[in-house]
Order: sequence, then structure tokens, then C-alpha cells
Amino acid sequence: MGLKAEDVFRPGAFPEYTYISRKSTFSDLSYEFRLSQAIRVSGFLTSLVGPSKMGKTILCEKVIGFERIIEISGADFNGDTDFWKLVAVRTGLSYEGQVLSGRTIRDTCDKFETKENYLLTKDKIIEYYREHDLVLVIDDFHYAPEAKRLLVAQQLKDAIRRGFKAIVVSLPHRADEAIRQNADLSGRLSLINIEPWEVEDLKEIAKLGFGKLDIAIEDAIAERIAIESLSSPQLMQYICLNICTLIEMNNPEYRSVQPEILKTAYHYTTANFEYGDVVALLRKGPNTRGKNRNLFRAGDGKYYDLYELLVKSLVENPPLMKLDFEIIKKRLDEIVEDGSKKPEQRAIRESLNKLQELLDEREDIFKVIDWKEGTLYIVDPLFLFYLRWGEIENRYV
Ligand SMILES: Nc1ncnc2c1ncn2[C@@H]1O[C@H](COP(=O)(O)OP(=O)(O)OP(=O)(O)O)[C@@H](O)[C@H]1O
Ligand SMILES: [Mg+2]
Repeated sequence: MGLKAEDVFRPGAFPEYTYISRKSTFSDLSYEFRLSQAIRVSGFLTSLVGPSKMGKTILCEKVIGFERIIEISGADFNGDTDFWKLVAVRTGLSYEGQVLSGRTIRDTCDKFETKENYLLTKDKIIEYYREHDLVLVIDDFHYAPEAKRLLVAQQLKDAIRRGFKAIVVSLPHRADEAIRQNADLSGRLSLINIEPWEVEDLKEIAKLGFGKLDIAIEDAIAERIAIESLSSPQLMQYICLNICTLIEMNNPEYRSVQPEILKTAYHYTTANFEYGDVVALLRKGPNTRGKNRNLFRAGDGKYYDLYELLVKSLVENPPLMKLDFEIIKKRLDEIVEDGSKKPEQRAIRESLNKLQELLDEREDIFKVIDWKEGTLYIVDPLFLFYLRWGEIENRYV
């Protein structure tokens, strides 16, 4: 029996049939090679940092293998989580408990049972990891509370010296200082930075996968999907899977990817994403406390305030994950109708500052953009994709 689309394109799991190996721009070596070298060296902690949805977890699983990897997440920690207890539990070792020891006293032949408490020590866990050649991956380290991150770093420092192997995975700029800027760990770190995906590498996912399914895809179409995937292999996998669903629904006998179905596939893909509240917050901006905002007349004849315009500017073509201030200004000027008043630079910067403040106060799902030093970064590719294709009024058609 042939392969099924959901086995080939796996946006949420290990892509057995569509795994692509990439080279890092920093060197000519593949990420797999660099990571496997890093974990081979005893006494070093590996810090893997990269933007959201770029394949960090999958890379660890590929290189270490499911038999040797033990995964914990920063989200598993709260203020009073005992690090070694958590590690023991995830490894399948019982950390604390009671053992029964039976002894018989000859004279009476009575049998006594005593219960003794035991606590698996950190040393035993380290020894177990060494014996079984296990590697601990602390994924999404940024989710652990800040104070906890420092404590974990201290524990790791001591453990790696004794041959314990661990990889700490986190987003850039958020949580890596506990590891990368920790003086105690300097000289004992292997650093691997995961870069966003290039269009050429993303295209390979489509070509490989559709090839396995016996569905033809032209290079130019694979390229269009890759551009729309905003440097994320996860989006690429999602879109390709939805294209398969559409082909199965419409013309299962027609085994090629037609350009007409792309926009529908993009739109379907957004059904899995929940950014409605985030978009609403960005469009609304901070509380105006009763004051009216300036409105600008756009090319579509409608009036928008600056916050609504800023959201619109993100949607424009080509999709960009990094927008310098000049690009934002240019896009805003183009959206506003010719001959009408254009937004002023000072007001634009002020609104961006306010948006940043607004997002900083909110939960992680809201942290989709980062405005710093005159550049706006889209932190979450799925958010920009949702913005471009999710809502009918924005849909880029
Ligand atoms: N090397 C790869 N080849 C093909 N597809 C990949 C590759 N790496 C990741 N993907 C796809 O991207 C998805 C997300 O990858 P992964 O979960 O590793 O990203 P992440 O960087 O850990 O994301 P997050 O920031 O959410 O933790 C995978 O489920 C898979 O579909
Ligand atoms: Mg991950």
C-alpha cells in the first residue's frame, strides 16, 4: 500500500519521510553533524538557540535518536520543582519511595519486615545516564521561571563535569542568558545557533514529499509555497498536507499540484491557528482614554487609525519576517491614499513602542512581534501567516 499524505507531511511530529538536512551558514557542516559532535564531547553543555518553529526539537530527536533522548520542557518547572526529581521521573526512575527488607529471626521464626525510605541521589542519576549513554534535552527553556533557570544552570554545571550529557534549547534573546552569559559555564559550552530556513531548503520538503506520494509539483510552485512558509519547515509541512487534502477532495485522479489551489490551501492551514485575539489587540492598540485618534484614508476608500494601518502593513507582499523602519514607513505611505495626509515618523515610532509595551504585559502567545532598535521582527511565523491568510478581509488575493 502506498504512503498516506499524513505520514509523509507531518507538521506536528517527526517527519520520517520528509526530513531535510541543512547546512548552517556559519560553516559548511550540517546541523546534524555539529550537534552530534557537540554531544560527543564530554564535559560540555550544548546550548541550541533558534527562532520559533525552525526545527530545534526535531533536530535533537534526529541526532540523539528516540532510544537515547530524554526530553523535559521549561514549562514543566514551577517555583518549587526539584530538578533531579523531574529528571528521574522522565527517565522512568523512581526518585523516592520505600523498600521492604524482610528478615527472619531464627529463634522465633517470626518474620519482620522493615520499611526503609530511599532517595535516589543525583549521583545515581548521573551514573545511570552515563551507563545508558542518555542525553537530557531541556526544551523550551524560556518557559521556566527566570530564577529557576539559574538554579538549573548551576545543577547542570556540576553534572556535565561528571560526564552527564545535556542540551538546553531556547528562543534567542529570551532565556539564553542563564546559560550563555553565565560566567560559571563559560568555556564549557558548545553553542549552536539555528538559522531561519532558506527557500531552497524548504522547497526540498515539498519535492521530497510529493515525490513520495507520486504527485507532480513544478519547481516554481514549490518555490511559491516555500516563500509563503516564512522560513518555517512547520508551515511548509502544514501547507503541503493541506494541498494533499484538497487534491483528494477535488480530483484524486489528477496527481499534480495546480497553482489554483494554493490560496485555498493557505487559508485552510490557518484554521489550526488561534491568533484572533492577538490580531484584535494589535489593531486596537492601547486604551485611548476617550481621545479620538487620527484617521487616515486608505486606497480602499476606508479610514483607519495608525494601529490598524500598522497591522495592514505587515500583511503586504512580499511577506517579511524583519521590517526596518523605512520599510514600515514606505508600506504605510503606500496604503494611505495618494494626496491624503500620511502618518508622521514620530507617531509611527510612538505607536510601535506602545504596541511593544502592550504585548510585553501579556502571555507568551501574544509575543508575536519584537520592536527594537528601529526594526520590527516577526517572532512567530505562524502569526504572520495567519495575518496574511486567515482573515477574509486581509486575505492576500
Ligand atoms: N529537518 C526538518 N525537515 C523537515 N521538516 C522539519 C525539519 N525540522 C522540523 N520540521 C518540521 O517542523 C515542525 C516543527 O519542528 P520543531 O518542533 O522541531 O520546531 P521547534 O523549533 O522546536 O519549534 P518550537 O519553537 O515551537 O519549539 C516539525 O514537526 C516538522 O514538521
Ligand atoms: Mg521545540
